[in-house]
Amino acid sequence: MVSFALLSDSYSRKSVTVLGHLFQRNVVLGVSGGIAAYKSAELIRQLKTRGADVRVVMTRGAREFITPLTLQALSGHPVHADLLDPEAELGMGHIELARWADLLLVAPATADLLARLAQGRADDLLTTVALACPAPLMLAPAMNQQMWRNTATQDNLQRLQARGVHMVGPAAGEQACGDVGPGRMEDPAIIAAAAASLFESGELAGRRVVITAGPTREALDPVRYISNHSSGRMGYALARAAAEAGARTTLISGPVDLHTPEGVERVDVVSAEDMLEASLSRLTDCDIFIACAAVADYRPADVAGDKIKKNEERMTLELVRNPDIVAAVSAHPQRPFTVGFAAETRDLLSYARDKLERKGLDMIVANDVSAEGIGFNSQENAVTVLWDGAEEALPRSGKQQIARDIITRLARRYRETVT
Ligand code: CTP
Repeated sequence: MVSFALLSDSYSRKSVTVLGHLFQRNVVLGVSGGIAAYKSAELIRQLKTRGADVRVVMTRGAREFITPLTLQALSGHPVHADLLDPEAELGMGHIELARWADLLLVAPATADLLARLAQGRADDLLTTVALACPAPLMLAPAMNQQMWRNTATQDNLQRLQARGVHMVGPAAGEQACGDVGPGRMEDPAIIAAAAASLFESGELAGRRVVITAGPTREALDPVRYISNHSSGRMGYALARAAAEAGARTTLISGPVDLHTPEGVERVDVVSAEDMLEASLSRLTDCDIFIACAAVADYRPADVAGDKIKKNEERMTLELVRNPDIVAAVSAHPQRPFTVGFAAETRDLLSYARDKLERKGLDMIVANDVSAEGIGFNSQENAVTVLWDGAEEALPRSGKQQIARDIITRLARRYRETVT
C-alpha cells in the first residue's frame, strides 16, 4: 500500500491511499541519462510486482549510468536502445513497441528529455516511441534543482501537462550534486503507484475476481468423455465486464472455443476435479469468486485405460458425484464473496433461493434455460439476481450487457458486505 496525492495532475507523497495494480498491463519504461537512472532497476521491480510486463527503452545518456544488461535481466526482455538498429527492428520494432504499450513511463526524465518531448522531436528511439504511442505518457522528472526551476524547463513542463502528460514528482531534498531543493526523482514505489492509479477506475478497481466458466469434461476412456452444451459465453462476458470494471480477473475455463478477453488471465482446465483444484489454489488471492461453469455433476467411477470396445449390446456406466466447487469455495476458511448461478427449467426463483442458502452464497444469478433464445449456447440472456432477502430482475439483453449489469449489482452488494 502506497500513499500519494494528486496535485494538479502531478503526484507526490501525501494523503491519497491507493492499492493499485498493473495486472496484464504493458509498460514501456523509458530511461534517460541522469544519475537517477540507477533507480530504474528498482522501478522495474516495483512495476513487475504490481503485475506489469515491462520493456525498457534507454537513451544513449542512460547507458552511461546503468548497463542495459541490468535492466534486461530485471525486465526479462531485451533492452531497446537504437532507432536504427536493424536487429532490434526485426524483433519488436519501434512502432510495434509504441502500440504494445498501455503506458509509456519515462523515469528518470531529464531536462533535455522534457525539452525534446515538448518540441515533439523524434531524434532518438525514446522520443520516436513517445510520438508514435497512443497510450498515456507519464514522466518522473529528475534533474538539478536549478535546472528544474529554470523558466525554460517550467515552460516545457506546462506545455506537456497541457497535452495531458502525467507528472510524478520530482521530490525535494538533497541532490547527488550536493544542492538541496526540488528535482530528485520520486521514489520508485510512488512512481509505480502513480502508474497503477491511471488504470484505477471502475467499480471493482483493485479487486481480484476469479470466475469459473464453460463446461467440464469427464473422461470415460482415452477418447470419450461426458460433458454438456455450455458455450462458456456468459462466464467470458462476465470476465470481460469484471476487467472493464477494474478488477484483476482470472478465468478458470473448461474447454471452450472462445478468445480470452483482454486483460484477463486464463487458466485452462478439463474436469471438475481440475477446476476445483484451480479454484481453491487461487483463494489466497481472491476477493470475489463467481461460479459460472456448468460443472458435470457426475463423472465415470472408473476411467478405462484403453478405448472401450463395443462388445456388448448394452452397457452400464457407473458414475460418482463430482465435488461442488462453489460450495467448497464458500465453506473455505479463506472464503471470498461468493456468487453462483442457478440454471433451471422450472420454479426458477425458489430453486435459486434454495441454492443460495444450501451452498452458502452471497449472491445467486438465476437463469431460466427453458425459455426460447436465452441461456445455454444463445447470444442473449435474462436473469434475476438474488441475495439475502432481496432480488432484482435484469431485463433480457445481449450476454455482454447482462454481464455488465450483473457486475454492477454484484459490486454494489460486495461493497455493502465488506464495509
Ligand atoms: N456448481 C459447482 N460445482 C458443481 C456443480 C455446480 O460449482 N459440481 C455451481 C455452478 O457453477 C453454479 C451453481 O453451482 O454456480 C449451481 O449449479 P447448478 O448446476 O444449477 O446446480 P447444482 O448444484 O448442480 O444442482 P442441480 O443440478 O441439482 O440443479
